[in-house]
Amino acid sequence: MGKIILTGDRPTGQLHLGHYVGSLRRRVSLQDSGEYDEIFIMIADAQALTDNADNPEKIRQSILEVATDYLAVGLDPEQTTILIQSQIPELFELTTYYLNLVTVARLERNPTVKSEIKTREFNQSVPVGFFTYPISQAADITAFQATTVPVGEDQAPMLEQTREIVHKFNTVYGETLVMPNILLPEKKLWARLPGTDGKAKMSKSLGNCIYLAESAAEVKKKVMSMYTDPNHIRVSDPGRVEGNVVFTYLDAFAADEHFQTLWPDYANLSELKAHYRRGGLGDVKVKKFLNRVLEIELDPIRQRRAEWSGRIPEIVEILKVGTAKAREKAAETLQAVKEAMQIDYFGDNYLGNNF
Ligand code: TRP
Repeated sequence: MGKIILTGDRPTGQLHLGHYVGSLRRRVSLQDSGEYDEIFIMIADAQALTDNADNPEKIRQSILEVATDYLAVGLDPEQTTILIQSQIPELFELTTYYLNLVTVARLERNPTVKSEIKTREFNQSVPVGFFTYPISQAADITAFQATTVPVGEDQAPMLEQTREIVHKFNTVYGETLVMPNILLPEKKLWARLPGTDGKAKMSKSLGNCIYLAESAAEVKKKVMSMYTDPNHIRVSDPGRVEGNVVFTYLDAFAADEHFQTLWPDYANLSELKAHYRRGGLGDVKVKKFLNRVLEIELDPIRQRRAEWSGRIPEIVEILKVGTAKAREKAAETLQAVKEAMQIDYFGDNYLGNNF
């Protein structure tokens, strides 16, 4: 049996640096490692609709945004299958059968669902589809027989839930589904990049995200106004690097080579931090350096984005072909599930059998 990756995103807007550091960059390196037999990346529009039922237009528009971001960061459709969740009905059939293997109490305990219900202020009006999306996510993962699911820490409860469903299914109906493993980000910091204002969460409404699609000038403006250390007033003052967004971003992006080429006064980030802590180093210099580092990382992404943005029909075709290929795999799994449950009434478990 092969090594198969499945992961995905809800298309609710453009992807930003948080997505890039937390998952996109990793996906590209997993793709380029050549260690995986198949890689599926899902645009989870049906999941996005579970809390956006009144705004399908937003989801529809975000699908192409997200797909273009994928291509721009270097996901290669020859190696990575990009698919649209809602166009694979087999996923929803699987979900129906898995719903019976999970209790309401178990879902109510799911920490991700709990906190999402809070932040969305659903109170007593939680849509049933939203409440049960972890089960639909189990269908996503098992349909593609994923062995490996690279996601952030916030998705760990989803994987836990999926593993329970797989265990339960295989116990009740016989060994059928593949047990998936989570692949967490290599460093904790990468799991959640803060907003440019220092707030833990990046959000469109707070205007504190840097988007992959932004121009170099826009990025520079955001970097130059980043939250640093409010007590670092004069250049000569000692500064704090903890909770200082500029340094957090440098932690995520700066490599020793960047110092060699851009700022040879320092060998690496620790030396720069030491100087900042001692005092005598101004924020503007550090911000300018971060901006250059980000330019180096983002320029190729921007260039690829510009190339792809003139080729929308090709992107749609990539999604169509990817979805069709993914559907075959999901159909294979659904067939195995139906056989295990003996509900393939017109197939091997023909309804007329014992009569
Ligand atoms: N829940 C994931 C998120 O909000 C998106 C997602 C949907 C997903 N289906 C998935 C992630 C399957 C991994 C595997 O980011």
